[in-house]
Amino acid sequence: MRKILVTGANKGIGLAIVQAILKNHDDTFVFLGSRDAERGKKACETIGSDRAQVVALDVASDDSVAAAAEQVKAAVNGESLYGIVNNAGIGLGSDALETVLNVNVRGIKRVSDSFLSLLDKSSGRMVNITSASGPMYVAKCDQDKQRFFVDPKVEWGAIDALMSAAVKAGDEADAYGLSKACANSLTMCLAQNHPSLRINACTPGFIETDLTRPYAESSGKSPADLGMKSPQEGTRSAMHLLFEELDGNGWYYGSDAVRSPLDKYRAPGDPPFAGD
Ligand SMILES: NC(=O)c1ccc[n+]([C@@H]2O[C@H](COP(=O)([O-])OP(=O)(O)OC[C@H]3O[C@@H](n4cnc5c(N)ncnc54)[C@H](OP(=O)(O)O)[C@@H]3O)[C@@H](O)[C@H]2O)c1
Repeated sequence: MRKILVTGANKGIGLAIVQAILKNHDDTFVFLGSRDAERGKKACETIGSDRAQVVALDVASDDSVAAAAEQVKAAVNGESLYGIVNNAGIGLGSDALETVLNVNVRGIKRVSDSFLSLLDKSSGRMVNITSASGPMYVAKCDQDKQRFFVDPKVEWGAIDALMSAAVKAGDEADAYGLSKACANSLTMCLAQNHPSLRINACTPGFIETDLTRPYAESSGKSPADLGMKSPQEGTRSAMHLLFEELDGNGWYYGSDAVRSPLDKYRAPGDPPFAGD
């Protein structure tokens, strides 16, 4: 059985990814990460599969992530994990920058620190669910920052310092976009440090979930009028990065599972990004 951890999987895109994994691949077992164990249990009951198990996992907490890693380590009983999907995310609303960075970026770092040693050394994969808000944020940055955000050799210390400086400066204007640009940088950093693994990022697309519904409500338009798709449609790129042959590593993909640039938006159907 290929064992896969999905964080923030009790609803929305995370839950849809769990369902797609179980439906499309009979040889999989999913650890359904949920910061609230009860909400995770309910989600697991909805799925109704004996190939899924809830893991209490709050990516914002060192202790919770460490305890979850111990639980998964005991459950796999000496075997390795095939995949990790870092899906948990917040921040389209009014959350403070520090809070958003703590979940969307430091959350991925915490999960990597605690779970990467459990991943299969040669075939293991990590998929980070970032967002087109990342490249859209970078497109508006000055040249120095743009160079930073496209650097495949970026190190965690530099990402950490950039985030701390942004919090100190009260740079709250686009907390979500900044967090997703940093999460793309962290993806490159992790891929560079673990070349035998496949570690990539993708956007699910514009998907109707609890994250985006308030935006639709405030705009006075329906999710469909705004072009939002279903959570199921939002799994395409993540499933590609988990299971298909991949040409590169540390790359960012659009919702159509096509490689996309880190410093400008690429619409689904546009030609693939072919840069370094
Ligand atoms: N929807 C879109 O259009 C869109 C577009 C681009 C990228 N994304 C990204 O896709 C991912 C999933 O978002 P979604 O749209 O499915 O939103 P959602 O329905 O709000 O689901 C978010 C999930 O993350 C979990 N979560 C939040 N904070 C957490 C924490 N500290 N620890 C563990 N889990 C936590 C939530 O758990 P609770 O139920 O406990 O809150 C929930 O399970 C996010 O990374 C988001 O940024 C979404």
